[in-house]
Amino acid sequence: MSTATPPLPIAVLGATGRMGERLCALIGSAPDVILSGALVRSGSPAAGLAIGATLATDRIDTALGGARVAIDFTPAGATLANVRACVERGVALVIGSTGLGAAEDAAIADAARHIAVLSAANTSLGVHVLAELVRRAAELLPADFDIEILDIHHRAKRDAPSGTAYLLGEAAAAGRGVLHDAVATVERTSHPAVRERGSIGYASLRAGDVVGEHSVVFAGSGERVTLSHAATDRGVFAQGALKAARFLAGRPPGLYSMADVIRG
Ligand SMILES: NC(=O)c1ccc[n+]([C@@H]2O[C@H](COP(=O)([O-])OP(=O)(O)OC[C@H]3O[C@@H](n4cnc5c(N)ncnc54)[C@H](OP(=O)(O)O)[C@@H]3O)[C@@H](O)[C@H]2O)c1
Repeated sequence: MSTATPPLPIAVLGATGRMGERLCALIGSAPDVILSGALVRSGSPAAGLAIGATLATDRIDTALGGARVAIDFTPAGATLANVRACVERGVALVIGSTGLGAAEDAAIADAARHIAVLSAANTSLGVHVLAELVRRAAELLPADFDIEILDIHHRAKRDAPSGTAYLLGEAAAAGRGVLHDAVATVERTSHPAVRERGSIGYASLRAGDVVGEHSVVFAGSGERVTLSHAATDRGVFAQGALKAARFLAGRPPGLYSMADVIRG
């Protein structure tokens, strides 16, 4: 009699996107997981086509059938419906989508009462180490060091600043002991554009095929500290999201983070 553990069935939401494709391929190559569902946009010509071990569908209930965990890499506008469907079906959920608003945040907090859920604007290991370093630097450096965050992404990215830039800004604010939303400066086109003391500034470049680069600059008078991370391959995000899915499988309802996944 075989005692082998059956592979973990995972649904990928946004399966034909840049991230979705990487994730489906990764799941297809890992022996301990299986692609049980693949959601595409309503009316997508990909619906009905084979993706790995499953058929793409534009129906969320079909995509979630048989899944224990779903991984969402759809654009932010689709996330609310995906969260609700996962709660209805009791499927744990990893959300990689960025640009989420207050409605999504509230739905995620509510979902965490019913299912295991993790929302991460960046699922790479390196960025979470960077966030920890940023928090520490903000704690150690005097408050008169200006903090500026730069993100560079490919030309098709829909949100700016990036979710990761905000994650780093939150880490800097936490290290400095201030409320992020009270000090964040996202645009400087209005005049006067002089820097406000204690603010955390954001700037975004969108160009070419850049996968994702982030720098946090701490600039004092006469010296500057820059901490940065560059993703050169989307595979790191896919691997992190898959690791998060394995981590969530079988966990009790609650809101988990990539820090939980990294700590194991
Ligand atoms: N957490 C991380 O580490 C990380 C890393 C990279 C990206 N991201 C985020 O992940 C999201 C996706 O990024 P991406 O670069 O893969 O974008 P993308 O290439 O535009 O992929 C999004 C996919 O979702 C599909 N889609 C749109 N509406 C849908 C719906 N209602 N249901 C199902 N599928 C739907 C799109 O289909 P069509 O093309 O047919 O419209 C497209 O295939 C973005 O928010 C991005 O910022 C996060």
